[in-house]
Parts: sequence; structure tokens; C-alpha cells
Amino acid sequence: MSLLFLRRAADIRSQVVALAAQGRRLALVPTMGCLHEGHLALVEAARAKAEVVALSIFVNPLQFGPQEDFSRYPRQLEEDFRLCEKAGVDWLYAPEEEQLYPPGFQTYVSCEALSQPLCGQSRPMHFRGVATVVCKLFALFRPCWAMFGEKDFQQLCLVRAMSRDLDLGVEVVGIPIVRAEDGLALSSRNVLLSAAEREQATALFRVLLCARQRYGEGERLASVLLEEARQHLFQAGIRVDYIDIVDEATLQPIEYIEAQGARMLVAGFVGSTRLIDNMALEGA
Ligand code: PAF
Repeated sequence: MSLLFLRRAADIRSQVVALAAQGRRLALVPTMGCLHEGHLALVEAARAKAEVVALSIFVNPLQFGPQEDFSRYPRQLEEDFRLCEKAGVDWLYAPEEEQLYPPGFQTYVSCEALSQPLCGQSRPMHFRGVATVVCKLFALFRPCWAMFGEKDFQQLCLVRAMSRDLDLGVEVVGIPIVRAEDGLALSSRNVLLSAAEREQATALFRVLLCARQRYGEGERLASVLLEEARQHLFQAGIRVDYIDIVDEATLQPIEYIEAQGARMLVAGFVGSTRLIDNMALEGA
């Protein structure tokens, strides 16, 4: 089947109604475009679940603060269309800003506790923007599943909570991080890095790996693991936005790591590009 471009909310609605009448199910892959292998892994997982896969591309202004990289965020629509076709996406939605936020738009979704720590500290309105746009996409597409990468771990937790709390009926599926050969987590923002910065950025992965090794060897004090990680990042020339070890369910900091479910999350600036990464401390 060839790629169907959906442009207006009314077109989406009639396709969604027709699909339900046929008893076919939809999986949604929300993205901001500049697609890479990480997004393609989401599409593959979506295809394994649903008869029809929809992918949205929208660089959502609501989730960027005034000093952030909205205008600099990479965009490559033509190439994204080609990748979607190749990956077997069925429906593509790449709206203009006025379609999602027409004049007079004034309704927002905010998830309370999960949006406070970590990225929420330096990007106070970010998760309100994410929750609002994702809620709108869920309302438009009524998917059975929506696929989110674990790289944005806080976003994944928050969207899951939103779907549950608002009874949206969407199963939010987390997909493991896809990494380059040198370990760097794939991100659309990686294209903004110079060659030297690209090399520097691998320190983010290495500190996570090192913390997991030290945990495996028996270190249980989060403060020790975090201090070691901060030292490494400083030496690599990365300006740390935050680094923390938290409980995966609540995203609250853990001081003494006793049980499974502890995850280290990091955000740092490589040059002027802010990257994030994370890793469970338990595991292979
Ligand atoms: O992860 C992203 O690309 C965005 O935050 C999302 C989920 C598409 C919402 O704009």
C-alpha cells in the first residue's frame, strides 16, 4: 500500500472511522521528523502490532522554551517522506502549526509530578507542550498503540501516565534506545554536532556504561556514581544540565540503590547542542 498523506482533521477522522468499521487497528508513531534508525525501530515495532501504522511529523513549538533550539531544530521533510515510504508507514501526517494550534487555542494538558524533575527543571514548560500535542494526536488518531523511544525516558513515563489518567485507551509502548556503533544514542539533534562534538558526545554513553559497571561490581551509593560521572563529563568538555539516578516508576532520586528499577539519566550540552541519554543500572 502506498503512503497516504493526511492533511486535515476531518480526513483523519473519516479514515479512522473506516478503519474501525473494518476491524483494523492503528499504531501511531509521533515524531518531530529528521527521521533516523531510532524512529524506524518505532515504525517496525508498530508494524508488528497493528494492521495500519500512522506517523506524525511536527516540530511542536509548545515544547520549546524561548531560549531553546526551535528554529535550529533539524527539518528534512522530503527525505522523511521517502524514509516513511521505505519503512512501510501507511499514513503520514505533517501538519502546519495553525492546524494543531488555531487562533484562540487555549487548552493544555499537564502531568504534575512526573514533569517536575530532570528535564522539567531546566525546561519548565516542555512537558506541558509534549503532553498537549500528544493528547491531541491521540484524540485525532484514536490509536490502539503509540510508540515512544526510551531515549526520552521521562517523556515516555509521562505520556504513559497521561494515557492512563485521562482514560485515553492508548497503550504506550516503550522501545529500547537505538545507538550508533560508538554508543551515542541516535537523536535528530546529532546532525547539529560538528565532527569534534560528535566524538565528545560519546562521553554521555560512556558515563552511563561505567556507572552500570560500577553498580555491577557492588557500588550502591548514588552520590559516588554521580560524582564519578560528573568528573568524566567535565573532562570530556560536556556541560552537565543534570545527572541523576532515579526510581524508574516515580522519577524520584535514589540515594542508596537497593533494588531493581534504578536508572541513570543525563542531559548535557555538547557545544550548544543539548543531548540526553539514560540507562538502567541493572541489566546486560
Ligand atoms: O519525542 C518527540 O519527538 C516529541 O517530543 C513528540 C513525542 C513527537 C511530541 O512532540
